[in-house]
Amino acid sequence: MKFFIDTANLEQIKEAQDMGILDGVTTNPSLMAKEGITGTDNILKHYVDICKIVDGDVSAEVISTDFDGMVREGEALAELHDQIVIKLPMIKDGIKACKYFSDRGIKTNVTLVFSPGQALLAAKAGATYVSPFIGRLDDISTDGLNLIAEIRHIYDNYAFDTQILAASVRHTMHVIDCAKLGANVMTGPLSSIVGLLKHPLTDIGLEKFLADYKKGN
Ligand code: E4P
Repeated sequence: MKFFIDTANLEQIKEAQDMGILDGVTTNPSLMAKEGITGTDNILKHYVDICKIVDGDVSAEVISTDFDGMVREGEALAELHDQIVIKLPMIKDGIKACKYFSDRGIKTNVTLVFSPGQALLAAKAGATYVSPFIGRLDDISTDGLNLIAEIRHIYDNYAFDTQILAASVRHTMHVIDCAKLGANVMTGPLSSIVGLLKHPLTDIGLEKFLADYKKGN
């Protein structure tokens, strides 16, 4: 399972990268705004800065909602760095743009996916990644994890290459459940990754080992 961090915060990306377990980064316009990154030039520079920190795919989302605009933006993003993945919204023109880029060997991530039918379309269009938003489904009392299971089942039926990128992950149990269900990738906040480290018995055990060592040394 690949671990992506879902942030535009360079410090947090560095921290995850330093652990040696980071496989990529996802961003979106809201995450860029949260870091105060505004204006096309600053946004493009920020994507390059992220690519310099992480070894792996970096999803950069288009703002356009029409095919021509998405192609124009996506091509400019793809030229920034070979780690850039073009993130496209799950709308008709987004699917068309996904096909356009996949036909040209440019990686894509179809985002804002909330149903198995949407995921099927993304795979048909040759998406590299499909991003089902599990946390946002949970937020409206719908089982986000069930969506991961349904997409896994459909993709396995037809051996689609599209990777299931479980997005809108909010906590460690989402990560573990997505791993059990066979999601290829998860993207979440740093806390959902670092939280996996924690177990009280690990802390108690380590404390005891160190205390016993000190007694004889
Ligand atoms: C996916 O790529 C999105 O950036 C993200 O996972 C959305 O998460 P949220 O629902 O916590 O905003």
